[in-house]
Amino acid sequence: MALRKIVIKSDEILRKKCKPVLNFDEKLGILLDDMAETMYKANGVGLAAPQVGILRRAVVVDVGEGLLELVNPEIIKSKGTQRGVEGCLSCPDDWGYVVRPNEIIVKAQDRTGKYIQLKLKEFFARAVCHELDHLEGQLFIDIADEMVDPDEIENEKQDRKRKR
Ligand code: NI
Repeated sequence: MALRKIVIKSDEILRKKCKPVLNFDEKLGILLDDMAETMYKANGVGLAAPQVGILRRAVVVDVGEGLLELVNPEIIKSKGTQRGVEGCLSCPDDWGYVVRPNEIIVKAQDRTGKYIQLKLKEFFARAVCHELDHLEGQLFIDIADEMVDPDEIENEKQDRKRKR
């Protein structure tokens, strides 16, 4: 495994739409391993391939329930709304409130190409929605309804203040 460089918000690559993963080969495995290592090293809860300069539809997420790898992910159902603070490893100084679905059903493939389907709620759903936006070239700062000063976020939300 190897650490990869995280692309910062001014880079145009973050604004591009990603292509589907077609080859479930060793190269994909290496990319996913490197993305997980890079995410953990940066103390993040999620990372999308374009954030390491790769325009392919692959993300990793770990909100404290173990590592989840999603290849060619798609939200097939969503329910309710939640509003909460987000940050992003590509936007190191930004925090802001984003409205997301409260519950989602996501369909994706794993690193071998096998289809998986998951029902996710609350913070887990938020993290996955945030990563899927990256695959469309969208950053949370584009859709945040209010930016916040990190010092003003109350203590109870501190554990949520981890970047994606
Ligand atoms: Ni992000």
